Amino acid sequence: MAEPVLEVRELEKRFGATLALDRVSLALAEGEILALLGDNGAGKSTLIKVLSGVVKPDRGQILIDGEEVSIDSPHGARELGIETVYQDLALFDNFNATGNFYAGREPVKPSWLGSLGWVSDRAMDKETSALLDRLQVNISRDDEIGIMSGGQRQAVACARAIAFGKRIVILDEPTSALGARESGNVLRLIKEAPENGVSVIVISHNLEHVMRVADRAVVLRQGSYVGESTPDPEHHEELVAMIVGSGEGEGEAEGEGGAEGEGGAHEASGARSEP
Ligand SMILES: Nc1ncnc2c1ncn2[C@@H]1O[C@H](COP(=O)(O)OP(=O)(O)OP(=O)(O)O)[C@@H](O)[C@H]1O
Ligand SMILES: [Mg+2]
Repeated sequence: MAEPVLEVRELEKRFGATLALDRVSLALAEGEILALLGDNGAGKSTLIKVLSGVVKPDRGQILIDGEEVSIDSPHGARELGIETVYQDLALFDNFNATGNFYAGREPVKPSWLGSLGWVSDRAMDKETSALLDRLQVNISRDDEIGIMSGGQRQAVACARAIAFGKRIVILDEPTSALGARESGNVLRLIKEAPENGVSVIVISHNLEHVMRVADRAVVLRQGSYVGESTPDPEHHEELVAMIVGSGEGEGEAEGEGGAEGEGGAHEASGARSEP
């Protein structure tokens, strides 16, 4: 593997008695889509909050392009090319889609639109419309975000991150509030991100969605890295076993044993879906 875009080494974070991250190490390759899996409370959001400057780790290193960095704020993360959509995402209710899309940014073009640099208001409207079309989000760019559904907001937030992400885009549960069609559109955007030089870390409880986009899946459990695998139907049981903690033998799916619990799934159709 060439130099990873992003690497974390032995990250540790404690909240009182909870060890949310227990010496977690992992690397993200250039152009890779990496899924981060794990049950509730596994430490996934904590890890991405460390990477986006929201949570300060107690210990460990973060390297970008092989150089150690310290990420002290969301602004700092953005400066380093890390764009994040949080699980509890924030958009400005009283701005329209264009306003949200460009809020707080220099008027430069999203990376996937090329390298023309500066854009005018009219151009911003045009780009936003193009993006909403691409997403097939059924709103006008002039509608205030406040009237959009949770799913539409989530789709716009993800689109914004992918469009503006310079190096690394982190998405925490990007499809959890989306219906089938909107999920499909967001997944398609994620899948295309590497074409624009963007690497992605995506957190999802939906294994079917993960299998559709991710190149590799890393599993956390109770704050620790427990293993990784290729997210495809063949490795579905293995991943589920790692997530729920049955069958400690890492790779081996243990016959009738461990992996069965989570819905008895044998094939791709057995993905967990959000409640
Ligand atoms: N700000 C905080 N203060 C105290 N404890 C926290 C805080 N943030 C997270 N935790 C604890 O750290 C652990 C990991 O939480 P985290 O949110 O990272 O899990 P997660 O893998 O994202 O779970 P989920 O799938 O439910 O989103 C949990 O036990 C959680 O209660
Ligand atoms: Mg979380």
